[in-house]
Amino acid sequence: MADRPTLTTTAGAPVSDNQNSITAGERGPVLMQDYQLLEKLAHQNRERIPERVVHAKGWGAFGTLKITGDISRYTKAKALQPGAETPLLLRFSTVAGELGAADAERDVRGFAIKFYTSEGNWDLVGNNTPVFFVRDPLKFPDFIHTQKRHPRTNMRSTTAMWDFWSLSPESLHQVTILMSDRGLPVAPMYMNGYGSHTYSFWNDQGERFWVKFHFKTQQGHKFYTNAEAENLIGKTRESYQEELFGGIERGLFPKWTVQFQVMTEAEAERTSYNPFDLTKVWPHGEFPPIEIGVMELNRNADNYFAEIEQAAFSPSNIVPGIGHSPDKMLQARVFSYADAHRYRLGTHYEALPVNAPKCPVHHYHKDGPMNFFGQKTGNVDAYYEPNSFSGAVEQPAAKEPPLPLSGAADRYNHRIGNDDYGQVAALFGLFDAGQRSRLFSNIAAAMEGVPGAIVERQLAHFKRVHPDYEAGVRAALKEAHGYEASSISQEEKSEAAE
Ligand code: NDP
Ligand code: HEM
Repeated sequence: MADRPTLTTTAGAPVSDNQNSITAGERGPVLMQDYQLLEKLAHQNRERIPERVVHAKGWGAFGTLKITGDISRYTKAKALQPGAETPLLLRFSTVAGELGAADAERDVRGFAIKFYTSEGNWDLVGNNTPVFFVRDPLKFPDFIHTQKRHPRTNMRSTTAMWDFWSLSPESLHQVTILMSDRGLPVAPMYMNGYGSHTYSFWNDQGERFWVKFHFKTQQGHKFYTNAEAENLIGKTRESYQEELFGGIERGLFPKWTVQFQVMTEAEAERTSYNPFDLTKVWPHGEFPPIEIGVMELNRNADNYFAEIEQAAFSPSNIVPGIGHSPDKMLQARVFSYADAHRYRLGTHYEALPVNAPKCPVHHYHKDGPMNFFGQKTGNVDAYYEPNSFSGAVEQPAAKEPPLPLSGAADRYNHRIGNDDYGQVAALFGLFDAGQRSRLFSNIAAAMEGVPGAIVERQLAHFKRVHPDYEAGVRAALKEAHGYEASSISQEEKSEAAE
């Protein structure tokens, strides 16, 4: 025991007995003066922080981005220059489940990367799908409500999900991916990641390019069927953590090929679809992916809570050479994440070791709860700006090129003039017979208990994609639940048609 460290209070004083409370007599009540007991109980009461409002269940690891291509003509970002190597943290997640949810559940997977670049943190907070359920941020909280628990039953509601989706046809692309094989990957290394939104690159000449990021798995795509996942969850709820953490411990380092698509500002004026619409991809035939490098995960966190649970990713974190785009969803996310972090982790969440940039940080924010770093202005007398005391100053070279914008401020109906079916048809066309059959049965399973009027409204959307899509789901519904359209009342049918 002599070589073991001494147990202390948090104030550093040695603890003489960590087994027995101080009591009045052998059988007596405990005394207030037993501060060690009070401290242990008080700390325990503060062990939990709010879970993420979405993407609560997650798995993460550290790694490296290595740049092999030369894209210096598009971006001045130092982390993307030829030969650059940048440390990173990647957190995968499911969207809807809570902190204790089973890993092998059908859901979109989060794919959030924090690149610790020499110019500040660049966070790419994406998913394993290239598109999303909604295209206007005003609908995001409504959508998430349909994924979470019903206020009365406290259970998830398939009716709410399909009601919302069938009333929001822009969701069809993402719903089809979710219900396809890629909606239930075997583990995080067997799926792609996508930045999903359109972002921008800008170079030293002040030219801007619109871009989309892709991370292609080098492990290949592997998925579970619903039946396999149900069987697995009966045995373990932590299959992703086991595979990712266990694999990295054994030296199996997963890799992704990093690619991007690029569109000039002039090209963006000419596409048949809105290139800033998050429910759309840019077809590879028109905008071929260009390889940039390789991303590898090679180190587990030593403390899950400190390094993964307290990780704070935000699309607002960009670095010179990388910018946002007019995508409405992205604009809202620029606000939402840091706001969530201040609530979930506290004012100085960015000073936590896992979130702290690995480059010098200077700012004039002051004080606040748990400020353990003092002042970061560069000089003790410089606590405001401008000042005459060598405090940190702005850097004009970091200024993004101006973005011309036009148009009257209004609430534009995003359901008018947007084709919600064409790209879904292209995806449906990629599926072979087996993939289609699993798509149909996955949808039928997910529709159990949904009122006929809502089912019919959704089937009408499938029909607009391809008649075989609707027929396939209808047949699967009959097989799974004995569903028949003829059993729905006329009143329900006309409601669905509206
Ligand atoms: P391509 O045939 O050139 O590209 C197809 C893309 O679809 C590939 O990236 C491929 O990813 C991916 N894919 C293949 N099978 C599936 C599946 N079962 N579920 C989800 N994605 C799959 O065609 P287009 O670029 O014209 O796109 C056609 C459709 O493919 C789109 O409407 C979209 O639904 C889907 N898609 C397109 C992407 C894009 O950025 N253009 C990205 C992802 C999907 P991989 O190479 O890893 O197999
Ligand atoms: C997590 C909001 C759309 C991917 C979160 C969190 C919030 C949020 C508040 C929790 C953050 C935290 O507590 O740390 C929103 C809003 C959206 C939106 C308001 C739309 C308007 C999207 C989209 C994607 C996405 C389109 C992917 C393309 C993620 C991921 C996480 C997350 C991966 C988990 C990050 C992590 O691992 O910590 N989102 N989100 N979200 N979101 Fe979104």
